[in-house]
Amino acid sequence: MNRLVVVSNRVPAPAAAGAQAGGLAVALEALMERRGGVWFGWSGNISEALGPVRIAEAGRVKYATVDLTAEEHERYYNEFSNSTLWPLLHSMPELMTFDRRNAQIYRQVNERLADALQPMLRADDLIWIHDYHLMGMPQALRSRGVRAPIGFFLHIPFPSADMLASVPEAGALLRDLLAADLLGFQTANDVENFAEVACRLGDALRMPNGWLNVGGRRVRLGVFPVEIEAQDFAAVAEDAWRAAPTERLRRSLGGQRLVLGVDRMDPTKGLLQRIAGYRRLLETRPELRRRVTFLQIAAESRKDVVAYRDLRSAIEREAGSINSEFSEPDWMPLRLVARAGARSTVAGYMREARVGLVTPLRDGMNLVAKEYIAAQDPQDPGVLILSRFAGAAKQLGSALIVNPHDADEVADALDNALNMGLVDRQARWRESWAAIQGTSALAWGRSFVGALLRTAATPPTARGVSGTHTGDEAMLAITDPLGMIVRPLGSRDADLADGSSVLHPRRMS
Ligand code: F6P
Repeated sequence: MNRLVVVSNRVPAPAAAGAQAGGLAVALEALMERRGGVWFGWSGNISEALGPVRIAEAGRVKYATVDLTAEEHERYYNEFSNSTLWPLLHSMPELMTFDRRNAQIYRQVNERLADALQPMLRADDLIWIHDYHLMGMPQALRSRGVRAPIGFFLHIPFPSADMLASVPEAGALLRDLLAADLLGFQTANDVENFAEVACRLGDALRMPNGWLNVGGRRVRLGVFPVEIEAQDFAAVAEDAWRAAPTERLRRSLGGQRLVLGVDRMDPTKGLLQRIAGYRRLLETRPELRRRVTFLQIAAESRKDVVAYRDLRSAIEREAGSINSEFSEPDWMPLRLVARAGARSTVAGYMREARVGLVTPLRDGMNLVAKEYIAAQDPQDPGVLILSRFAGAAKQLGSALIVNPHDADEVADALDNALNMGLVDRQARWRESWAAIQGTSALAWGRSFVGALLRTAATPPTARGVSGTHTGDEAMLAITDPLGMIVRPLGSRDADLADGSSVLHPRRMS
């Protein structure tokens, strides 16, 4: 079995694996625990000297991490990654700042990480790089002589060509990414945008069935919607619903219906717009006052970035304003908690909530939407209100789908959800559950790794290099017209030595 080397900006501390972590870490933990390998990236620490790679082992995973300097942390992480690329890739240019010096340091950090990783690599490794912090890594590794298969997965959306062009670095980053063999995205829309941008800025040519021709090399694109451990989460929620924290929450509600939001405090999550939608509900449906409580858990995030600090102040102002306007001595319409809760505790809250309010302005996937569905009691499920701009909306079409910018639409959906009868709630929930109940983060990871192996194993002639389409029949067997990678007839995932079966990502509607 080839060794898997995962590269991501954030690497969970070995002791914290399995505990509270970001979406990327949660998605990869199951795969790394089962398969083992190396997990390489930033230690989370800042130190002034460029120290050595630190290695820690837990189970079958070797965690290899490096520190950042204060300047790197500021310019690579806070600035270029989170103040340039993050808003740009989420199509929110009004939040974007750009400074050439930050772009240079971003590139230097990608190069430095490649320098640190390269000596640890073996010829039979499979390298899987994650997310927007590390778009320079595929080329940085290739230019250091690394020939092993490289896959890259983008956890967040990929915007249109016009949007991307507003960053001078975009063309160079595109070309760096195209040094990978397989590029994975959350939705078919992201693949489509990337293919167009690769042709306009990266000199790529589109070939049939999800392949690009980049100067005679073939690069494969695929859709791999990130999943949750749906069955496990459902079991955790059922237990947590009976445990003390949810019991206390239930008692505090005194029979009111709970509307729940669970997010990082991030401008892409649409929290101000969401609060505006709730305000509109209270204004236009006075009969619902005292009968509903909105609990927004908004975990503080990236607090060194100005836009995030400003957002927190604005949210606190809005929450305070709603509460002072609509509260009564014995009723408060909105509870705002600016800390992350333990995942299991929040799972219990999700099961208690009559409405899950998930309204990002733009989101690669949004795993909270899937968790809310998994957490529900099938006999008495709540209703998911979901932004049409979340990747999850492609799979959870039976939710109440809203435009998060439209306060009236959000208020209407809240009214509808709060008053929806049992039969309707059950029918909507069953359809959403059917879309995710067989999925798992483990299967998602395996499907990407399997696809990377198959991509690397496809000989250049069978990939139709130099514009010939020889071998397209073979490609037809492994990709569908959206570039969604499916198992080729009769193929086996040689890498899955633990013998468990592979679930491939479902095709999205
Ligand atoms: O892909 C988005 C992401 O990078 C996830 O890994 C994670 O859930 C979240 O953002 C956390 O961001 P940060 O690492 O900046 O705290």
